[in-house]
Amino acid sequence: MNLFSIKGRRALITGSGRGLGLRFAEGLAEAGAEVVINDVDAARAETAAAVLRAKGCAAHTAIFNVTDPAAVRAGVQQLEQSAGPVDILINNAGIHRYGALLELDVAKWREVLDVNLTGAFLAAQAVAAGMVARRRGKIINICSLMSEGGRPTTGNYMAAKGGLKMLTKSMTVEWARHNIQANGIGPGYILSDMTAHLAAQPDFDAWVKGRTPAGRWGTPDDLVGAAVFLASPASDFVNGQIIYVDGGWLSAL
Ligand SMILES: NC(=O)c1ccc[n+]([C@@H]2O[C@H](COP(=O)([O-])OP(=O)(O)OC[C@H]3O[C@@H](n4cnc5c(N)ncnc54)[C@H](O)[C@@H]3O)[C@@H](O)[C@H]2O)c1
Repeated sequence: MNLFSIKGRRALITGSGRGLGLRFAEGLAEAGAEVVINDVDAARAETAAAVLRAKGCAAHTAIFNVTDPAAVRAGVQQLEQSAGPVDILINNAGIHRYGALLELDVAKWREVLDVNLTGAFLAAQAVAAGMVARRRGKIINICSLMSEGGRPTTGNYMAAKGGLKMLTKSMTVEWARHNIQANGIGPGYILSDMTAHLAAQPDFDAWVKGRTPAGRWGTPDDLVGAAVFLASPASDFVNGQIIYVDGGWLSAL
């Protein structure tokens, strides 16, 4: 038995039209899974799926906005009817909207909470019903260093990612008995479109490299091993954990 095999499993990855999500999709596909690219941006999702298919991966798309309860339910239902049940869900869709708390507009507060936290709840709720019935499932929530701490101007994101850590534990206390393992991955500073503007600032770049014990930014490739582990039978008794893939960031003062 290959403990880490996910061959033949179907994985839905939200917000996977680009960035970390796309790399998660590619990584799971390379490990044998059939993957479903979700994004709110249809063209981005279709392009991503086409790129994966050209590499020989089995890839579908499911276009919906994770903040829209009816769209999430319909999207998951349609997917499960046409392709089959979802065995693995990665809640990856996420956004940043910077602003100091004193000035932060409530619309920006809600937008970030909606995508990063409520979206994960809605997708998990839609997928977990079938997982409970089948008595098998893997849910991986993409948290952040900001599930633990943050910087000024990131209050909405910290609240959302801190909430996502606790939502992971709440999924665990309700769903572990149904043989669903809900866990999280907390990436450190990873080079992606979301962080490109930070990496382009010499002071910020130097701060990240100096503050990270590994001495560098992470790459999307660095996250794939943790995702395959949490998606595979190797993690069948791992419940409610957040694996920080951060080059040692949280170990250093
Ligand atoms: N890049 C990092 O350093 C880093 C670090 C920690 C955590 N994260 C988290 O990893 C995840 C992916 O980040 P990324 O850097 O790849 O971001 P990204 O901006 O490159 O990609 C996010 C994708 O999600 C999609 N999306 C946004 N809102 C959506 C919605 N409502 N419904 C469906 N799709 C939606 C976007 O269209 C985009 O394709 C996010 O949850 C982010 O918070 C990133």
